[in-house]
Amino acid sequence: MKYIGNKTRLLDFIYESMIDANIPMKGTFCDIFSGTASVAKFFKNKDFKIISNDFMTYSYVAQYVNIKINKMPSFSKISKNGIDEVISFLNNMKPIKGFTFENYAPEGKYKRQYFSNENSMKIDAIRDKIEEWNVNGLLSRDEYYILVYSLVDAADFVANISGTYGAYLKIWRSMALKPLTLVVPDITTNNKDNEVFQEDSNELIKRIESDVLYIDPPYNGRQYAPNFHVLESLTVWDKPKLIGKTGQRNYEDKKSRYCLKREATDAFEDLIVHAKTKYIVLSYNNEGIIPREEIIRILGNKGKMLEYTTDYRRFRTESDNEHRKYKKCDDKVVEHLFIVIC
Ligand SMILES: C[S@@+](CC[C@H](N)C(=O)[O-])C[C@H]1O[C@@H](n2cnc3c(N)ncnc32)[C@H](O)[C@@H]1O
Repeated sequence: MKYIGNKTRLLDFIYESMIDANIPMKGTFCDIFSGTASVAKFFKNKDFKIISNDFMTYSYVAQYVNIKINKMPSFSKISKNGIDEVISFLNNMKPIKGFTFENYAPEGKYKRQYFSNENSMKIDAIRDKIEEWNVNGLLSRDEYYILVYSLVDAADFVANISGTYGAYLKIWRSMALKPLTLVVPDITTNNKDNEVFQEDSNELIKRIESDVLYIDPPYNGRQYAPNFHVLESLTVWDKPKLIGKTGQRNYEDKKSRYCLKREATDAFEDLIVHAKTKYIVLSYNNEGIIPREEIIRILGNKGKMLEYTTDYRRFRTESDNEHRKYKKCDDKVVEHLFIVIC
């Protein structure tokens, strides 16, 4: 998934840096800003017990499916043959005009272009069906989240955007015209009682303990809620009244202090002060809003610090190309990994 700060392509760098720092690959690994859950999933497969967290609902569902669930459930109340049959049934549903069509399709009331008319009508039919099954008690919690995750993932794949949902494209990208297709999510197991949360990290940190605490906070002013609002609305399915040209949902309660220049350093210091862990692993890049000296001061209070770096391709969206100015004119940022032996 294209997601600001997605660490999928940096997993080997993170892992090898941890090995170099002699961090034992056992115990509890906490991914406290989990996003797509890519890092938590990687370390679930390395045999850690995982704790993960993120305050966005679409992330919570991704964590639930990829981290908490260890075994594909049976879907026995709606199918004799399990998940494959259910996904195939959903993929063949008759499209209907509903919330998605009205708000995100070109022929909908607001003429937005996040999804084609056909795909938005398919999303409406499938998402309503999942909700109906759930309300009628036909799905376990695991089953419900697997289906919601599968739909949101499929919708993201055909969204007419260049990177975030901050804006839709005026010209259709070819993927957006392909038919929406749900696929069966890949469920991995580590046979451990993994825990997933949807909380403010600075609150959760006071109640948890870990061996490795992985911290990947937002590093610039772009808030996640307005940039991924469509995923949030398809996940929550509360069908709110959306506002503005791009159809934003209200995100007053989902503003991150880590995206605010005046507050990011204090938020980070508060997080680190409350961390109860043997090792801290922090991802941050050279264009982050917390000054490097402050990161070093705050982490230094906790123990011995090591620093690793790697070049990384910048996360870009189309609007970035038009309006944003970068400190350097190339496409590379330096990704830092700070490791603290507490
Ligand atoms: C850089 S991204 C993490 C990316 C993730 N490592 C991945 O590979 O997909 C930062 C995440 O922090 C979340 N976030 C921001 N502020 C938060 C807060 N105060 N509490 C919990 N989550 C927060 C955002 O929703 C976002 O998903």
